[in-house]
This record gives sequence, structure tokens and C-alpha cells, in this order.
Amino acid sequence: MKGIILAGGQGTRLYPLTVSLSKQLLPVYDKPMVYYPLSMLMLAGIREILVISTPEALPAFRKLLGDGSQFGVRFVFQEQPSPRGIAEAFLLGREFIAGEPVCLALGDNIFFGTSLPQRLRRAAQIRQGAVVFAYQVRDPRRYAVVTFQYDESDSERGLALTLEEKPAQPLSRYAVPGLYFYDAQAVAIAEALKPSARGELEITDLNRVYMQRGQLHVEVLGRGVAWLDAGTPESLVQAAAFVQTVQERQGMMISCPEEIAYRMGYIDAARLEAQARQLAQTTYGRYLLQLLEDEVRE
Ligand code: TTP
Repeated sequence: MKGIILAGGQGTRLYPLTVSLSKQLLPVYDKPMVYYPLSMLMLAGIREILVISTPEALPAFRKLLGDGSQFGVRFVFQEQPSPRGIAEAFLLGREFIAGEPVCLALGDNIFFGTSLPQRLRRAAQIRQGAVVFAYQVRDPRRYAVVTFQYDESDSERGLALTLEEKPAQPLSRYAVPGLYFYDAQAVAIAEALKPSARGELEITDLNRVYMQRGQLHVEVLGRGVAWLDAGTPESLVQAAAFVQTVQERQGMMISCPEEIAYRMGYIDAARLEAQARQLAQTTYGRYLLQLLEDEVRE
């Protein structure tokens, strides 16, 4: 399965922070925001990743991420000339996707929690239809809202029944986070989409096509999982505080791509050590060195 990180957009809700800087490069405590969705793709087993951003910001993403060898993955970079919607990722990424299944991660969505790696690996197995997550939130009106029927044999999985973008009167409290898994039909469906009233190719419209085909699978994330989006000053600070609190308490990092690469077997100890030595002056680098000393591999 291929992966796409969509890291463009204007970030207007974070102005003036994002007038001259890409939102997805802003720090979430000790790492750039884009490390968090990148980590989800890596945990799902995805190693070929297209990074899409604005023409202005793309050079900074290239500088930060390089060719991906330090994480045992391969990055390809692509400009989105203007923010014409999330589903445009499939049109921009058509050649990169090359007829394969694909996972799309929004660059400002942060996940952490129990059994998430298994859930991600399972979603990445999809070969027919699509998988979205459902996450209960206090105020669903800001999100795409899904209702679903649980599978008979599975209390964590269902099939979508309704899907609405930012509804004034939500039919459930389940929001759809920005991490989606698709079979090989996604590009063709995106090609047939019409822009919405706000002039964007909407990911919810694409997902609705899968739903109408009876192929939109829903993985329900429970209270053991945190889903944060870092698109406003409040949520950005909350996300940073969450990461700091958990990391300081446990002495384990949230969404450290080098660690994930090592544990997943994408890089060996020598590669991890080389990366750690470059950052040895920092808490981040010392953490990587400690991993080598602990010699823990899953
Ligand atoms: P949004 O949060 O909907 O938009 P935004 O990031 O531009 O922020 P704001 O609403 O404050 O102006 O976007 C969700 C994610 O998708 C975010 O990571 C940006 C990305 N995105 C693109 O890369 N291209 C697009 O055309 C759109 C609509 C979003």
C-alpha cells in the first residue's frame, strides 16, 4: 500500500503563526507536526510515501524529510498549487499511486493509543472498499460525522450508513479523523468528483461514494485512543501538552519515526546510531541512543 501525507492548506485558523510557515512544520512539543501522521503510516507498514504541500513550503519538507532513508522509507514530493481540497491528493498523486491501494493521512492529525498499531495494520490490508475511523467527540458539528452498523462478529468494526460534512444537527457523535485507507478505486472516484459549494474536492464526497457501494468500513476508536488535530492555537497547545505529559511520565516517545523504523525493522542499529549521533546534543538524540542500549525490539 502507498501512503500520502497531505500537508498543504493555508492554516488560516492559526494566523499569524502560519502566514509564512507551514502549519505541519510547527512544533508539537519536541517534533515537527508532520512526524505524527508520518508515524501512523510507518506503523501501518507503509514505506512509500508522497508528501504533498504548497509550492512555498515544499522545499522545507524536502529539507526536513530528505529521501527517507534515515527512517527506512522512501519520500516523493509533490506540489499542490492551491488548496483545492483534500480529495485532490488522489489526482495529484495519480502517478505515484500507480493503481495500488493507498492510505491518506492529513498532516495535522495526531493519534496515540493502545492497540493502534494493530488497528492500522489491519486497515492497511483493505483490498476492496475503504476504511475510515470513527472517534467520539463532544462537538461533532466541526467534523465529518458518520453513523454505522456494527459487524455481527466484531465490536470494533462496522459499515457506514450515513456520512455528513459539518452537520448542524449531527446524527451521531462519531467524527471521522483524517486518516483514510482505500483500495485501488480511489483515484477513479476522485476524478469523477465535482467541487463543493466552497470550491473544494471533498474527501467526504469521495467517502460517500464508497458508502453508497456498501464498501465504507468503519473502525471504531475507543477511549483508549487519543485523536487530536492541531489546527487552532488552543488545540496546538493542547496537543503539545499531551505529548509532553505522556513522554515525561513514561520516558517513551510519541511518534518518533526513528524509533518506529527501528522497531519495525526498517532500519538497523547502525543506521539508528548514526541518526542518534547527529542529534546527540538533544533529549531526542539521547532517547535514540538509549533505545540502542536497551536493545528492545518488538
Ligand atoms: P484544513 O484544516 O481543512 O485546512 P487548513 O489546514 O488550510 O487550515 P484552516 O482551516 O485553518 O485554513 O485541512 C486539513 C488538512 O489538509 C491540513 O493538514 C491541510 C491539508 N489540506 C491540503 O493540504 N490541501 C487542501 O486543499 C486542503 C483543503 C487541506
